[in-house]
Amino acid sequence: MFSRYKKSANPGKPAGAAPRGKIAELPKKNAAGAEEATDAPTSLRRQKPAAPARSATADKDQKRKERMAELKLDLHRELLENLNLAALDTASEQDLRAEINEITNEVLNQKAVVLNRDDRTQLNQELYFEVKGLGPLETLLQDDSVNDILVNGPQQIFVERDGRLQLTDITFKDEKHLMRIIDKIVSAVGRRVDESNPYVDARLADGSRFNAMVPPVAVDGSLVSIRKFKKDKLGIDDLVRFGAFSEEMAAYLQAAVACRLNIIVSGGTGSGKTTTLNALSSFIDDAERILTIEDTAELQLQQTHVGRMESRPPNVEGKGEVSPRDCLKNALRMRPDRIIVGETRGEEVIDMLQAMNTGHDGSMTTIHANNARDGISRLENMIAMAGIEMPLKAVRSQIASAVNLIVQANRLQDGSRRMTSITEITGMEGDVISMQEVFRFQRVGLTPENKIIGHFTATGVRSHYSERFRLWGYDLPPSIFEPIAAE
Ligand SMILES: Nc1ncnc2c1ncn2[C@@H]1O[C@H](COP(=O)(O)OP(=O)(O)OP(=O)(O)O)[C@@H](O)[C@H]1O
Ligand SMILES: [Mg+2]
Repeated sequence: MFSRYKKSANPGKPAGAAPRGKIAELPKKNAAGAEEATDAPTSLRRQKPAAPARSATADKDQKRKERMAELKLDLHRELLENLNLAALDTASEQDLRAEINEITNEVLNQKAVVLNRDDRTQLNQELYFEVKGLGPLETLLQDDSVNDILVNGPQQIFVERDGRLQLTDITFKDEKHLMRIIDKIVSAVGRRVDESNPYVDARLADGSRFNAMVPPVAVDGSLVSIRKFKKDKLGIDDLVRFGAFSEEMAAYLQAAVACRLNIIVSGGTGSGKTTTLNALSSFIDDAERILTIEDTAELQLQQTHVGRMESRPPNVEGKGEVSPRDCLKNALRMRPDRIIVGETRGEEVIDMLQAMNTGHDGSMTTIHANNARDGISRLENMIAMAGIEMPLKAVRSQIASAVNLIVQANRLQDGSRRMTSITEITGMEGDVISMQEVFRFQRVGLTPENKIIGHFTATGVRSHYSERFRLWGYDLPPSIFEPIAAE
């Protein structure tokens, strides 16, 4: 779609790959309810605590939930005693479900408990998830509208949908139950988490990024954060359709990637950095050799020639670490055309900048920063923290000659994720890195529903790289760089 700006007469450099990967429309939001506080008694005489104002149906619901939780616990115990755990891995889903159904029936008969059909189906489903999956988390993992799952102790599970956090009514029975699920996840990847190793990173079987921290460091019960893996990553087309950036910006970025500018995607946590990086990578020519380096492999490049690396923390004895810097150093010996580092946050910054400066142009990475200027300061700080003694001016000129473009991702107050600015680094003026913003998101107001109103616009400056674009066969029409007048 954006390749229309590419001249056809340039056989050596085919037009950038068409954006790939589609994702279903994001679902609509649910509203979360709020609870009310009761008044404190004013008399001196001690009064019986007032019963919270709850409806009879809420009470019934709560009782039902408790009864089901107890039943589940009994049944789970029964299952573990009766199931042949060794055969579990090979058992078909159908057999396992049938077995669970049978054991449930036996236990319900023994206890003389009668459940309606829905409750029974739900109970069987939850038991199946306890045995085979990740217990209460499983429904959320299977819900495509959920981006993040955040557990604050056994009784509180939040999810993020459409950029907003919502409290769910799903809970774990208790901390032991939560710990059992955490153990299940981390032991599957050969890690351990306990009082002496209280936090851990892992990847779920479906590729989701997982982090857990357990007590006593986690004060009110274990903390779990899951970034769900999207099988169909958002592509450029999707991002334009969702209003993350404009068609003009997409056309500019296509030229920037194809002409091998070094690009940094900057943004806050969960602002869409990795998604943007992934989408930008779709513009890389299929003939190039790309090496990716990540802490947890999230990128899904569609090119044929991709080498993926995942760094590794030290093991329990403090050995075996493979840092992002180790991966990067090794990558330089692996004849890459481009290097993509999932996130630069430490000493690997030195090697990243050097790679960008020395023949691996067209490399990309992300950093945590609130705007382009902050991003540059972050890079300077990382270099200083890496223990490199270099005058500030030398550091800056290294950054200025390595980085061409900073793309700023943002999650705005209404939950929408947008690329709020594209800034070019143009060189040095004295001791200062000079830069110019080429595109930005112009906010103009809020709707009554607190949705942000605004539009993307060029700032009117001429791109510093227009000559390069032209030489590489990307004739961007001047209209792309014309600012849109505010309404
Ligand atoms: N423009 C967008 N519209 C809708 N959803 C988006 C958009 N960009 C990203 N997302 C979704 O938001 C979530 C967070 O995105 P992503 O992983 O790219 O963020 P990040 O900035 O890399 O986060 P982190 O700082 O945790 O690494 C993902 O589930 C992703 O699918
Ligand atoms: Mg990320």
